[in-house]
Amino acid sequence: MARQRLKPEELRSYRWFGGSDLAATGHHSRALQMGYAREDFLGKPVIGIINTWSDINPCHAHFRARAEEVKRGVWQAGGFPVEMPAIALAEPFQKPSTMLYRNFLAMEAEELLRSYPVDGAVLMGGCDKTTPALIMGATSMGLPFIYMPAGPMLRGNWRGEPLGSGTDRWRYWAELRAGQITEGDWQEVVDGIARSHGHCMTMGTASTMTSAAEALGLTLPGAASIPAADANHPRMATASGRRIVEMVWEDLRPSRILTAEAFDNAITAVHALSGSTNSLIHLIAMAGRAGVSLRLERFDQLARRVPVLANIRPAGQYLMEDFYYAGGLRALLNEITPLLNAGCLTVNGRTLGENIATAKIHNTDVIRTREKALSQSGGLAVLRGNLAPDGAVIKPLAAEPRLLKHTGPAVVFSDYADMRGRIDADDLPVDENSVLVMQNAGPLGAPGMPEWGQLPIPKKLLRKGVRDMVRISDARMSGTSYGTCVLHVSPEAYIGGPLALVRDGDLIELDVAARKLELKVSAEELAKRKAAWKPRPPHYARGYGAVFSQHVTQADQGCDFDFLHHGPPTPDPDTHH
Ligand code: FES
Repeated sequence: MARQRLKPEELRSYRWFGGSDLAATGHHSRALQMGYAREDFLGKPVIGIINTWSDINPCHAHFRARAEEVKRGVWQAGGFPVEMPAIALAEPFQKPSTMLYRNFLAMEAEELLRSYPVDGAVLMGGCDKTTPALIMGATSMGLPFIYMPAGPMLRGNWRGEPLGSGTDRWRYWAELRAGQITEGDWQEVVDGIARSHGHCMTMGTASTMTSAAEALGLTLPGAASIPAADANHPRMATASGRRIVEMVWEDLRPSRILTAEAFDNAITAVHALSGSTNSLIHLIAMAGRAGVSLRLERFDQLARRVPVLANIRPAGQYLMEDFYYAGGLRALLNEITPLLNAGCLTVNGRTLGENIATAKIHNTDVIRTREKALSQSGGLAVLRGNLAPDGAVIKPLAAEPRLLKHTGPAVVFSDYADMRGRIDADDLPVDENSVLVMQNAGPLGAPGMPEWGQLPIPKKLLRKGVRDMVRISDARMSGTSYGTCVLHVSPEAYIGGPLALVRDGDLIELDVAARKLELKVSAEELAKRKAAWKPRPPHYARGYGAVFSQHVTQADQGCDFDFLHHGPPTPDPDTHH
């Protein structure tokens, strides 16, 4: 049965602009002050365009122009666009980690939408944490919204060879340290690796999360794959602006889109893309905001049946620009339609199945068919054991296969500074069978759970030709990284998790096929060490850091703030003053 369209007086913004009392006319006068006429805003859906543009975020450098293009669509459809800037979360520059501020942006987005006369929103993000943050906040607010992804940057280039952001930076840095390339070569790599605006063009967290947003049904079909510099990108921005106005009239809220089945679609897409390990944390947090209970095991269950089809670095060969030309996410999803909940509703009012039905793969090396998959399963694996009672994560395809079942002695670093200070020391007692362990790099310990999980290979082993080792930490890892890195160990060392109890020389067993991560130390000995363990002092005595420290949850629960993912709905503000 067709749903009723809203009437103008049913718009949320009507409570600010409707009628002629003192409050309403006060709001009119201030809109008029900006040069708008009453015809511009009265009776029209007000569309908040949350823009994470900043001079410090290269991934969103095109967002000033894109915001205008979204507005063009809003005007065309009879809405009233209002651009609202929000914190940019620039991955390369913000320290100690943008993860410290993901929930900050989520709160900002939610409160912007709540406290202003907004009927619907276009969320402009792309650089890693901006996608989950904006979606978390807007989901909690519950108004109709469309996610507008920034789009990947163009391929990097060095002497005609394509370069992938992050992935090839780590690779050539290791070659420089091993003496295989010169300082001049390295500078050329630096010059060529980021050639246009847009987010990282490897299958890092940005491409993973924008693709997950599309699979959830939160973007226009095909939006996540369009390179930022392609003329189709501004057209998509304008189409997003047009569509959100209709979504408001249709009252198409995220509660109708963000179901458990939609999250399964997002996880399935992430696995087929061999997406970033960060997606587990973010999707768990996003699901929590939608009232969907999502546990790590669901990722593992789905990983076992989803083939990896995207041949994109770091797990594969190509980059997002190639992926777009090969048909993009719609083509990939069409190839795995039987594994999806095709009936899920999306922001364009049609189902995911309808949106992908006609998409074709144009290059079967970039987007593999199911028969020629990079791997028939296993984009990500969830590990458990006495070293990670609440779980840990590994991306098997980014690891050297021989290390996926490995037992070796631990070389322990008590934190990141300790690791940096000693990793290249000639007297570090390490060989290629060692297991590198870093403690105190988790949500509370670092703080902010930075992407330190790809511990560097010690220089003396690099010189011997070693390029991968088992590495274990409670940190995250950039989705653009690679190696046998066990991440997100929970509970983290800083709160006394078993990771805090590991000592040099302890044997650690990793068995990915058995989903096992075991510290080969007796329970009695571990109990003794636990009794002697002393917590480190808190990082923050005041400010946002103190709020973060008091309320952030562990990685297996999504690192959301405890007070944000439960509790009764927050009431709308009183507008009569
Ligand atoms: Fe922004 Fe990688 S730095 S997405």
